[in-house]
Order: sequence, then C-alpha cells, then structure tokens
Amino acid sequence: MNGNITFTMVKPAAVADGHTGAILAKIQEGGFTIKALKMLQITTEQAQGFYAVHKERPFFNSLVASMTSGPIVAVVLEKENAILAYRNYIGATNPADAAEGTIRRLYGKSIESNAVHGSDSDENAQIEADFFFSKLERC
Ligand code: RTP
Ligand code: MG
Repeated sequence: MNGNITFTMVKPAAVADGHTGAILAKIQEGGFTIKALKMLQITTEQAQGFYAVHKERPFFNSLVASMTSGPIVAVVLEKENAILAYRNYIGATNPADAAEGTIRRLYGKSIESNAVHGSDSDENAQIEADFFFSKLERC
C-alpha cells in the first residue's frame, strides 16, 4: 500500500537564488499539504548520512559539498500516493530532462543543483522526515 507522506528539501542553490517561496507555492498548487517546515544548514556528516546510498558514486563528494554549501529548507508533505505523485511533480533528476512545468525544470540549474530532493520510498520518507523533525514539529 502506498503512503501519503513524502519528504522534500529545497536545495542550497535554489534557496540562495531566492526560489524558496516560489517552490513552496508551486508545491501547494500541486495539492501537497505542508505538514512540517524548517530552514537549516546541514553538516558534512549529516549530508554524508543522508546520501549514504550514493557513497561509492563518483559524484558523492561534490554532492555532499553542494548540499552543505548553504541553508536548505526541509519539508514534510502529505498527498495521496505522495512518493510517486511528488517525484512526477518535480521531474527527472537532470533538469534538462525534466518535463516542462516541473519544479526541477523551472528552478534546477544542473543535475546536482536540481532545486529539490524527493523521497524515493515510503520507508525512506519516514526515515528522512524523522531525521529532520521531532514529533512536536510535525502537524
Ligand atoms: P534526490 O534523491 O535528490 O531526490 O534525487 P533523485 O532521486 O532524482 O536522484 P538520485 O539518483 O537519488 O541522486 C541524488 C542526487 O545526487 C545528485 N546527482 N548527481 N553528477 C551526477 O551524475 C549526479 N547524479 C545524481 C543529484 O543532485 C540528485 O538529486
Ligand atoms: Mg534519490
């Protein structure tokens, strides 16, 4: 059964470029409800842990550097079938391949600075939401 929660981050380059408000508005226009929200800068260790699945990939160090280069905005979202709905809504990993109108197409600059993260499974959405938010911080 598919869950109704996903986790997203507005990545540092998109925050630095002033796209946070537009991205949050776009997320809400897509019918996703914001359940938790905060801005923070993650440490190198936290970024390495978050992307541990990619630790053998050639782009790992560069990815960690970009994810720690400035503040991110962490958000828990709710919608029916949230994981798939949100991944479709943000578009392909590489903004150049992302469909017209998707968040990555609109606000992504490169495969690494691709505006937002989106969870890839219900299990990871729970892990990621729990990593950033206490129970008290989730509505
Ligand atoms: P995300 O986890 O951030 O939502 O992205 P995704 O599922 O679409 O892509 P994934 O394969 O999980 O990759 C995680 C992030 O690593 C960066 N990346 N760089 N240089 C490269 O070839 C490369 N490939 C991936 C992207 O920032 C991607 O979002
Ligand atoms: Mg991923």
